[in-house]
Amino acid sequence: MSVQTGNTASPLAPEWLAVPADLNALQEPMWAGSVQRNGLGELTVGGRSVSELKQQFGTPLFVMDEADFRARARAFKDSFDAAFADICGGVDVYYAGKSFLCSAVVKWVEEEGLCLDTASGGELAVAARAGIAGERVALHGNNKSDAELNRALDMGLGRIVVDSLSELARVGDIAQSRGEQAKVMLRLTPGVHAHTHEFIATAHEDQKFGLSMAADTTEQAGLSAAEEAVAAASAHPGIDLLGLHCHIGSQIFEPDGFALAAEKLLRFLAAMQEKYSIVMPELDLGGGYGIAYTPVDTPRPAADIATAMAAVVRSTCAELGIESPRISIEPGRAIVGSTTFTLYEVGTLKTVRVDTPAASGGREDGNNVTYPRRYVSVDGGMSDNARPVLYDADYSAILASRTSAAAPQLSRVVGKHCESGDIVVRDVYLPEDVAAGDLLAVPGTGAYCWALSSNYNYLARPGVVAVRDGSARLIVRGETEEDLLNRDMGV
Ligand code: LLP
Repeated sequence: MSVQTGNTASPLAPEWLAVPADLNALQEPMWAGSVQRNGLGELTVGGRSVSELKQQFGTPLFVMDEADFRARARAFKDSFDAAFADICGGVDVYYAGKSFLCSAVVKWVEEEGLCLDTASGGELAVAARAGIAGERVALHGNNKSDAELNRALDMGLGRIVVDSLSELARVGDIAQSRGEQAKVMLRLTPGVHAHTHEFIATAHEDQKFGLSMAADTTEQAGLSAAEEAVAAASAHPGIDLLGLHCHIGSQIFEPDGFALAAEKLLRFLAAMQEKYSIVMPELDLGGGYGIAYTPVDTPRPAADIATAMAAVVRSTCAELGIESPRISIEPGRAIVGSTTFTLYEVGTLKTVRVDTPAASGGREDGNNVTYPRRYVSVDGGMSDNARPVLYDADYSAILASRTSAAAPQLSRVVGKHCESGDIVVRDVYLPEDVAAGDLLAVPGTGAYCWALSSNYNYLARPGVVAVRDGSARLIVRGETEEDLLNRDMGV
């Protein structure tokens, strides 16, 4: 048996993973705008070094670049406003709070001229605490409770996005009994399949969300659930029907799916306006714009997506002879995802030797070549980033507390949970000399990481620190052991 080491590509690495020319370089576009290395070789963000952050706040830690968050929020607002200026006077951008939400972020969203998309009573509670005007908030959900609907009405929400016929009746009746009208949009499933992981594609028929646009999807012959909802909503005294909504999936790079969904919804909107003699002044095209998790991901700038979508809205409205409704969108990941990296401390290291994969010429005589794979354990794991386990999501990582001239070694960054699937970064080249006590940074963890975090194995959830202009402040504090024991009712 022979053993291979060195700095060439490992046959164990996936095809997409290249050996970086420089292991110390920050590969675009995975990192927030202010992240760089200082003279000592340490990563800094917003002017603060990772060792300072580690000392002040501990690890693991979500480190967010506040200026970068604001810039990405503004980029969506400005580029969609510009692309749609002549079509509908601009676009309302609803930041999808499910991706990451806390009071500070609500404030930033408001200050940058965006609105907020929420998906539960709890998210509404955060919005209320942050003091954002109710009219700038939307509420989603396929199973909203009466309490959530009442809370939405109490807060004077700008829109409640209704997901089903039964919910529509409930919203209307609740609002009517309060002597009010609920501002409602109808979430439709336009049957557009986005090229993404199955679990996060949401606009096809065989899933729980939305009202189907396919004919004969209700008891009434020939009528789609979507049409039945339009008819019912426009007739209900407790409902002010603003318009239609769709969300075709998540982590989507190409604008074609968004454009196709926009076209389908506009055709339907025009037909319904004519048939029921109504005007629906709003159309929401959801979120789902992709970001870079690894060097091979190629997200489009917001301006490119905006231009592509605007072209379709412009031409479809012209063809249909209708005035364009006011367009809105709901990006979450594309605003917050790349603003944040998770800072971990390295602990245990172990290298295993793995047989040549058959595809790379495994030999039947038992005299196989083996290749090293190093397991780098960090002080967090699937409790602060469930996405690799849930969606097979790939991430990247870099040595953050120093530079290194050592050779690249194929590594797997793993957590400290009692579970072999507890992987943070499945495949990444890290310097051979990475050692216990080093700090690693995993970029692209701003969206759906803290939000999906858990206390598995009684690990405390990490805090989130926002760094800007040389100052760092906790926007969500990390949990303490006391927090963990708080809800245990004792013996
Ligand atoms: N609007 C609606 C109605 C949504 O359901 C979602 C996401 C968004 C907007 C925002 O999508 P974004 O722009 O962030 O892709 N946990 C999964 C993603 C679930 C997305 C759920 N809905 C993940 O970690 O990939």
